Amino acid sequence: MADGTGPEGKDREDRRAFLDRSSKVAMAAGLVGGYGSLGAIAIRYLYPARPEELSWQYVARVEEMDLGDAVRYRGPAGETHNIARQGRDGTSEDFIALSSTCPHLGCQVRWEGQHNRFFCPCHGGVFDPAGVAIEGPPAEAAQRLSRYPLKVEGGLLHIAVPVRRLANGEPAHGEVLALDGGVEGPGHDPCLAPDVSRGKGTRGA
Ligand code: FES
Repeated sequence: MADGTGPEGKDREDRRAFLDRSSKVAMAAGLVGGYGSLGAIAIRYLYPARPEELSWQYVARVEEMDLGDAVRYRGPAGETHNIARQGRDGTSEDFIALSSTCPHLGCQVRWEGQHNRFFCPCHGGVFDPAGVAIEGPPAEAAQRLSRYPLKVEGGLLHIAVPVRRLANGEPAHGEVLALDGGVEGPGHDPCLAPDVSRGKGTRGA
């Protein structure tokens, strides 16, 4: 029938009602999703990630390191660092501590004092003295080496590194792996020639 009261008219009404319900459900789902995202942002704002606990660890006597020297240091949590001397003042400003793990694919980076740079032998990654990548894949990806705080007290150089606690609750100590001062050449592949301790022993805070 043409007045919309027959079976066809009823079908049209049913379809309209169905579409109406569907659009309301979609709108409600969108609102829930939006409020959910806002809620997640609010929670992150109110309860930010707990900062990593750091502890100061003894590295070396300042006088042990000449300009251009570097120490390879392993923190108590197992991460490794290059601590390079780049100045002569005898203050913490003379030194820089950077992660020795290349941000490209994780090879070991080393300091080359003679070239005033950090170098990753795996794919020729080069980093400036502040750890900013300037050549190779890490530069293409605008990467840099993570930096760690240093301090000098009484002529002793300390680094702040992530804590690992022993079973008794005491903080574990890191260790100096090698003194790299005066190393010549383009660096080495740590997979082929792992660091060898030169008898510096384990050091702690
Ligand atoms: Fe260092 Fe590729 S892992 S440049």
